[in-house]
Amino acid sequence: MKNLNIIHHPILQASLSRLREIHTGPEEFRHQARRIVSFLAIEALANLPIRQHSVTTPMGQTMGFELSSQVILVPILRAGLGLVDPILDLVPNATVWHVGLYRNETTLEPVEYYNKIPKIGETAYCLVLDPMMATAGSAIKTCQILKDRGASNIRMVCLLAAPEGIRNFHSEFPDIPIFTASVDSHLNEIGYIVPGLGDAGDRMYHTNP
Ligand code: PRP
Ligand code: URA
Repeated sequence: MKNLNIIHHPILQASLSRLREIHTGPEEFRHQARRIVSFLAIEALANLPIRQHSVTTPMGQTMGFELSSQVILVPILRAGLGLVDPILDLVPNATVWHVGLYRNETTLEPVEYYNKIPKIGETAYCLVLDPMMATAGSAIKTCQILKDRGASNIRMVCLLAAPEGIRNFHSEFPDIPIFTASVDSHLNEIGYIVPGLGDAGDRMYHTNP
């Protein structure tokens, strides 16, 4: 499917199974989420522009490369926060702007509670981070906010996605690529991904022990 990138690396897939496992506790859950998002981010940033520059080694001069675009990470609070640090390890100068959304449990519509995103230059590379794309309401709302602020280069990074969410997302934003470790079977009657991993925010932050 166009603009859907499912990353099948065996190390990532082994981590994903640990993440799904019901008995995996919060410490390992955060650890595995960080491992998985590193693989996804490397793929999502594979076309990041670079420019040549001169490097002095202990042996002399050579030409090297440096990143030439601003990278902006946009974690969707709360669970998206757990995906930020591994990408900052890869791109230490990335900018992080937060968007706060929660799903209304009855309507499944996203409710916005934090958004201070400023104007964004059109050459910036934006990665939207959220472990779960269920209905995609949260992802769609965040991408719309970014587009309204001027972003033209957006990628959606999620650990897991539902087919319904991918369809909804790409009917709104066919040009925004999705990077994920798995497209699961379906959403259940309360909008959870099956087989999924349960509530990502609760498992990451141990808020429903
Ligand atoms: C979860 C998840 C996504 C959203 C996905 O957040 O982290 O943001 O649901 O669902 P959607 O694709 O149907 O919008 P939740 O609302 O539980 O908030 P939390 O991160 O604060 O736990
Ligand atoms: N949010 C979650 O945390 N998990 C799901 O399966 C769906 C939405």
